[in-house]
Amino acid sequence: MTSKSFYIKTFGCQMNEYDSNKISDLMTTIEYMKTDKIDEADCFIFNTCHIREKATQKVYSDIGKIKKIYKNKRKPIFVLAGCVAQAESSVVFEKSDYVDIVVGPQAYHKLPNLINEFNLKKQKSVDTELNVDEKFDVLKNIKNTNSKISSFVTIQEGCDKFCKFCVVPYTRGPEYSRDHLKILDEVKLLADQGTKEIILLGQNVSAYKNNEITLAKLIKKICKIESIERVRFTTSHPNDFDEELILLFSEEPKLMPQLHLPVQSGSDKILKLMNRNHTRLDYLKLIEKFKKSKPDIQFSSDFIIGFPGEDEEDHQDTINLIKEVNFTLSYSFIYSQRPGTPATNLDKLPQDLCQKRLEEIQGILFKQQVEFNHSMVSKENTVLFENRTTQGDQFFGRNQYMTPVFVKNDLISAGEIKKILIQDANRNNLFGKIA
Ligand code: SAH
Ligand code: SF4
Ligand code: F3S
Repeated sequence: MTSKSFYIKTFGCQMNEYDSNKISDLMTTIEYMKTDKIDEADCFIFNTCHIREKATQKVYSDIGKIKKIYKNKRKPIFVLAGCVAQAESSVVFEKSDYVDIVVGPQAYHKLPNLINEFNLKKQKSVDTELNVDEKFDVLKNIKNTNSKISSFVTIQEGCDKFCKFCVVPYTRGPEYSRDHLKILDEVKLLADQGTKEIILLGQNVSAYKNNEITLAKLIKKICKIESIERVRFTTSHPNDFDEELILLFSEEPKLMPQLHLPVQSGSDKILKLMNRNHTRLDYLKLIEKFKKSKPDIQFSSDFIIGFPGEDEEDHQDTINLIKEVNFTLSYSFIYSQRPGTPATNLDKLPQDLCQKRLEEIQGILFKQQVEFNHSMVSKENTVLFENRTTQGDQFFGRNQYMTPVFVKNDLISAGEIKKILIQDANRNNLFGKIA
């Protein structure tokens, strides 16, 4: 039997990237091979994101593009996976008759069966069951073929925090922590295949708990694996840190000094309206604790601009917080109303006001990022090299703060850590030579 091909497109966050790798491995069990040729696939899988309205719209407009490409060809099987699938399960077929199979983020391990069934019966199906235990049980038996120098490992999924703007508690389900022994098995397997850096993933990764194993204890165990040189984790909620985890940044040299710690707003009033359950001062105190533990630690964050009720003073509070913490990398988006979330019925602020505030905030964030990158010039950074650039004349790696570093050199190989003298910088990248 000749094998069939599938094309997978990933939208959204790093967890979706991890999931897409797992889906790709699952597909090979039913003899579907991955292809990059968009115009000759037997099966399409869109692993989707529902976080903002635009993310969801993009999914449907991209389905339209595929439909067009195959207008005069045999229709491929179309799988809608991920967070849009979960959130819109009941209306997907109405919104697009092109979709054949709808499968949620906690049910994709069943995809091989769903596809086989579809091939037999040509009947559309929906599976949005939230059975995380079963998913990871199936996945642990599937060979991972996606190890990289820097690899993601999901350790925790879902969220019980219910921030008023956010769809994640509904699309990923309740907070769930994976068995730490299975996580360690996965990390060891990746290490055997050449992975040097592990990025632990979760919607609320700092809330990880499996029996007595907390995130700090899990990181300690991972750092004992000799060939793993670096560990990072994302995304954390400011309320879930224990002292052990904060101190680990000073005790464990493999834990990198960069932390993504979304705050969303610098205003106490807005934080309360968002149901973030901490104040501006709580956040600043936490930042201080990290700095005390690890003086050179750098922070990145997420901001929501124009949440309903945000006035000029709240906006200034956010600006002041950004300056006070001096974030070196951040993501900011205008608030997007999401169906089914508690904030969805609140009155939106005028779009042009939100746009103005967004531009102001992004201007400050960009400036801080550029300044930080320029402050690296003439310094030595330790860089983990990942691959040669597509042009081939440079090697790409990341420094301890996750900033991309490019070096022109023929003697570097993937997976090596080297001291690099930084010679030049722009907003996103650093350039240097072997020190
Ligand atoms: N668990 C993480 C974030 C997950 S979602 C946390 O607690 O912070 C990733 C980011 O998307 C959020 O940090 C937030 O800034 C943004 N986001 C979520 N819902 C949004 C919405 N309705 N409109 C605009 N941005 C949103
Ligand atoms: Fe969403 Fe993060 Fe809030 Fe959970 S903690 S509801 S994932 S923003
Ligand atoms: Fe998007 Fe779902 Fe991730 S909504 S951000 S893909 S958890």
